[in-house]
Amino acid sequence: MLDRIAWERHFERTPMPSANTAPSNSTAPSASTAPSANIAVVGLAVMGSNLARNLASREGNTVAVYNRTTSKTDDLIAAHPEAGFVKAATMQELADSLQTPRTAIIMVKAGRPTDAVIDELVSVFEPGDIIVDGGNALFTDTIRREAAVRETGIHFVGCGISGGEEGALNGPSLMPGGTAESYATLGPILTGIAAVAEGEPCVTHVGTDGAGHFVKMVHNGIEYADMQLIAEAYDLIRRGTGKSPAEIADVFDEWNRGELESYLIEITAEVLRQVDADTGQPLVDVILDAAGAKGTGAWTVQTALDLGVPVSGIAEAVFARSLSSRLAQRAAATDLPGPSDAWQVDDADAFIEDVRQALFASKIVAYSQGFDEIVAAAVEHGWDIQKGEVARIWRAGCIIRARFLKDITKAYAEDPDLPALILAPYFRAAMASTHEAWRRVVVAAAQAGIPSPAFSSSLAYYDGLRADRLPAALIQGQRDFFGAHTYRRIDREGTFHTQWSGDRTEIAATDTH
Ligand code: 6PG
Repeated sequence: MLDRIAWERHFERTPMPSANTAPSNSTAPSASTAPSANIAVVGLAVMGSNLARNLASREGNTVAVYNRTTSKTDDLIAAHPEAGFVKAATMQELADSLQTPRTAIIMVKAGRPTDAVIDELVSVFEPGDIIVDGGNALFTDTIRREAAVRETGIHFVGCGISGGEEGALNGPSLMPGGTAESYATLGPILTGIAAVAEGEPCVTHVGTDGAGHFVKMVHNGIEYADMQLIAEAYDLIRRGTGKSPAEIADVFDEWNRGELESYLIEITAEVLRQVDADTGQPLVDVILDAAGAKGTGAWTVQTALDLGVPVSGIAEAVFARSLSSRLAQRAAATDLPGPSDAWQVDDADAFIEDVRQALFASKIVAYSQGFDEIVAAAVEHGWDIQKGEVARIWRAGCIIRARFLKDITKAYAEDPDLPALILAPYFRAAMASTHEAWRRVVVAAAQAGIPSPAFSSSLAYYDGLRADRLPAALIQGQRDFFGAHTYRRIDREGTFHTQWSGDRTEIAATDTH
C-alpha cells in the first residue's frame, strides 16, 4: 500500500511574514549605500516577482530587485512593502547592493534576453560571484554559457524551476546545475524557498553545468505526455459513455484518491467542471481545440533523437499538439472515411476502470522513457545524476507532482542501476495488473476511430521492449541488401554481408556503416 502524500500540503512551508511585523519600506533602502542584500532577482514579470517575494519571505534573506523598465521595480516594491526589497535602478546598483559572493537569479525570457542580462551581470560581478538562470533555457545554451562565464571566474548556474506562478510564490521544485562550489552558497537559499514534500525540500544539486536545465526539460516532456494521456482518457470516456464534462470531473476526482493522484489529475477535474459565463456551455467545449507549446516538449524529443533514446509517448504528445494546431488541414480532412460517430460502450463503469488502468500504465511508460533520456544524457555529458533524487524533488511544487514519484525514488533506492524504471518490481506488478485493460482501451479506440496516440504508442513501446525478437532482423537484411550495411548474427561473433547481387553467399565483413 502506498503512503499518501498530503496534497493539501503541497506548499507546506512557513507562512509569509505578516505586514505588521515586516519592515516597512515605503522608502525602499537605496542600493548605493552598503551591501545589504544576499540575493537578487533580475526580471520582474510574474515569475520573477513571485520568486522575489518567496525569497523575501524567508528569514535571513534580503532581496535586491532589478528590472530593465524601472517602473516595474517600483510597482513591485510599492505593492509589497512587507518584503523589504532593495531597489536597484542599474546593474551597478544591483552589484553594489549585494554581499559577496554576490548571487543573482535571472528570470527573463530564454534566448537572447538571457544572454544580454548575463553579459551585463558579468560586467559588474567579480570572480566567485554566482549568476543563476531560472528560466526555461535549452540545456546546450546553459552548457555554453557556463563555459563562457567560468572563464571570468564567476559561477553560472542553470536552474530549472517548476510550478508556474503559484509555485514560484509558494514553493517551486528547483533543479539547479552548475558547480558544487556555487551550490554551497546557493543551496541553502534555494532550500529555503522550495516546496516541501513530507518534510523534504524539493531541491537538489542535480549535476554540473547544464544538468539542471536538462532535467527540467525532461520534466516538461513528461508533463506533455501526462497531459496528452489525461486528454485521451477524457475524450474516450466522453465519447464512449456520453458522460458530461462535469460528470467526468467526478471521475477524475475519484481517480485522484488512488494511485493516479497528481496535480494534473486534480486540475483536470477543475477545468472540466468550469462553465463558460457567456454561453452556459462547459468551458472545455468553447475552447478552441488547438494546443499551444512553448518548445520544451519538442526539445525533449529532439534531444532524445540525438541520444538515440525512444521517448515515443512524449513524442506522440508533442505531435498531437502539432496536429491539433493544423486547423486548415484538419478542416479539409473531416470527410475522410472512418467509423460512424455513434459509439457507446456496453458497461460504462467497466470501461472507465479500463481507461484508468490504461492511463496508469501509459504514464509509467512516459516516466520510464524520460528517465532513460536522463540516464543517456548523464553518460554523454558526464553528469552524476541521482535518479531517485530527481523523482524526490518532483514530488511537490512542480507540474508533474504525483503520488507515484515516491515509488520511483524507492525503485532507484533499491536498485540504482535498474536497466529501465519499468523493470522495477513495483512497476512490473503494475504492468501485470493493467496491461489487459490497456489493450482493451487501445482496441476500442482504434475501432471507434478515436485518436489515442499516447495510449497506443506507449503500448507499442511496452510490447517492443518485452519482445523476445523484433522484426529489426528484417530491417538489417534490407539494409544489407541495398547498401551492404552488414549485420551481426545470433550464433557467432563478427559482422557479415550477404553478396545479394552475386551468388548470395555470406562473407565476413568489416564494413560498419
Ligand atoms: C513548469 C512548466 C512550465 C512550462 C509551461 C508552458 O514546470 O512550471 O513546465 O515551465 O513552460 O507550463 O509549457 P507549454 O507552453 O510548452 O505547454
